[in-house]
Amino acid sequence: MDTGHSSIASRIFSLVFSLPFFLVTIVTPPKLCRAEEVDARRGYVGSAACMDCHADEYLSFMTYAKKSRSFESIEKLKKGLTAEEIAKCYFCHTTGYGKPGGFVSVEETPHLQNAGCEVCHGPGLLHARTTAPADIKKHLTTEDCEACHTSERVKAFRYKPMIHGGAH
Ligand code: HEC
Ligand code: HEC
Ligand code: HEC
Ligand code: HEC
Repeated sequence: MDTGHSSIASRIFSLVFSLPFFLVTIVTPPKLCRAEEVDARRGYVGSAACMDCHADEYLSFMTYAKKSRSFESIEKLKKGLTAEEIAKCYFCHTTGYGKPGGFVSVEETPHLQNAGCEVCHGPGLLHARTTAPADIKKHLTTEDCEACHTSERVKAFRYKPMIHGGAH
């Protein structure tokens, strides 16, 4: 009786412990083939997907970088702007707008609505899967910033929002 009991217990024990590994095995996607790899390399995952492995960078970014709240800046000034004009803000104030796997809308891609880690480090889907340093951009140059931080473009976009924001 005692032995029967403990063998049931050990069966339950091993079932409970093997279940997570079993699930991981069936849920983990198969190794990427060449064509899919190209897409994964360009896919965006959003800053929250980096959190588990890069908690320090994530916390400091979410606390101090205005980028992490950059969608709010659109919300603040969008009154009086047309949908088309608002869409122009997305290129700089969201992640990957207009690029494959990038921001589409708040409803469809809420994880990309702010300018996140990937506006500097590039699309991170592949790296988030493989964790390989080679799959993400580390060293950045001013060119990586200038798509958004261009003096004339900043001036040009600021002009209208300032009027609508009631700066005077
Ligand atoms: C599942 C874990 C995991 C996730 C998710 C992850 N990373 Fe990493 N990342 C790593 C590991 C592991 C390294 C290598 C660390 C080392 O060598 O010290 C790394 C390295 C890096 C590096 C340095 C690369 C280099 O050349 O040294 C950058 C930049 C980076 N990650 C950014 C990101 C960003 C941005 C995201 C989210 C889009 C992200 N990581 C998501 C695990 C992860
Ligand atoms: C995809 C566009 C984009 C790229 C690329 C980009 N930025 Fe930004 N950055 C922004 C936006 C948008 C803001 C303003 C966010 C707000 O206030 O709503 C900002 C704000 C900043 C600020 C203001 C201070 C703060 O707390 O955030 C600094 C500094 C900055 N960026 C540095 C950089 C540097 C350095 C790079 C390149 C390595 C870079 N950015 C690349 C869009 C971008
Ligand atoms: C070409 C890229 C770009 C576009 C397009 C863009 N922004 Fe920005 N925006 C920035 C950058 C970069 C900053 C940070 C500027 C700085 O700190 O010098 C910023 C800052 C802001 C700020 C904060 C200003 C402040 O003084 O703190 C607001 C609000 C804002 N943008 C709203 C908008 C709105 C609304 C649109 C669309 C009509 C828009 N932006 C379009 C790049 C852009
Ligand atoms: C404004 C641009 C910018 C943004 C946004 C940004 N980073 Fe970075 N990140 C950098 C720069 C610059 C470096 C230093 C690269 C170097 O050493 O040349 C760096 C380095 C790193 C490294 C490597 C650290 C090391 O010591 O090797 C990791 C990991 C990383 N970033 C993760 C993140 C994560 C996660 C986010 C979002 C939560 C993020 N970064 C957002 C610009 C950025």
